Amino acid sequence: MRIVQMSDIHVGSGLFRPELLEAAIEETNALTPDLVAIAGDLTTDGYLWEFEEARTYLDRIACPHVVIVPGNHDAKSVGYRHFEDIFGQREQALTVPAPEGEAKVVALDCTKPDLDEGEVGREHYAWLDSEFRGWDRGPKILILHHHILAVPGTGRDTNNLRDAGDVMAILRDVRVDLVLSGHRHVPWVWSISGVRIVHSGTVSSMRVRGTMPPSYNVIDLNRETVTITLHEPGKGEELLATFSRQPVTTSEFYPALDRFVRYDKLPF
Ligand SMILES: [Fe+2]
Ligand SMILES: [Fe+2]
Repeated sequence: MRIVQMSDIHVGSGLFRPELLEAAIEETNALTPDLVAIAGDLTTDGYLWEFEEARTYLDRIACPHVVIVPGNHDAKSVGYRHFEDIFGQREQALTVPAPEGEAKVVALDCTKPDLDEGEVGREHYAWLDSEFRGWDRGPKILILHHHILAVPGTGRDTNNLRDAGDVMAILRDVRVDLVLSGHRHVPWVWSISGVRIVHSGTVSSMRVRGTMPPSYNVIDLNRETVTITLHEPGKGEELLATFSRQPVTTSEFYPALDRFVRYDKLPF
């Protein structure tokens, strides 16, 4: 299965570079991915015209499965309403056909209007559980904008998920394979307790940090391995990370999840 992950497009910013987005989309179409995950911050201030302009670019993606979640910038200025009007649901669960079966993909809106930080929220926990637990037909993939864990090279570790601990415990318990996020504008991968948390940088803006250029990720999963490649639009690629497909865990954790995080199972 091939996934293109991009985020932090930031239409509306003086630092938005349309030629980078156009190159990334052209390259994405040539890569013929099974899934394109757009992990939020399509806009800068959540204005209607920014969403409309973002749409004109993203409509050019040829992949049949393009999944988009809002970022904190998209939730500014009541922009989440425009997101719904232009892109439809802010969150969804779907299955995506892949060579090795069927991936379960959950796209979750962790934004709060006008706040930079994110929160999955207790109201989402039972939904995550019901979608992922026991899924055995292919990879389990969560897409959300904010970072669960701190990303290095980003200055101060701020604005992460407010309920990161609860969320991470649930993701481990239901054995999520991949979490695709953006927000920090720095590409990075954590592999922790069998969960691979993959961040894309900013694909099309110069809102970069340190030495990291604008970029997006290409993730290739096959039966044995997971390979993540960093792509600079219009320039080239380099390896970001490789893993065995089956997570190598060297530890077991014994107390039941509900001693730490408790929620009703769906249906209520
Ligand atoms: Fe961003
Ligand atoms: Fe963000």
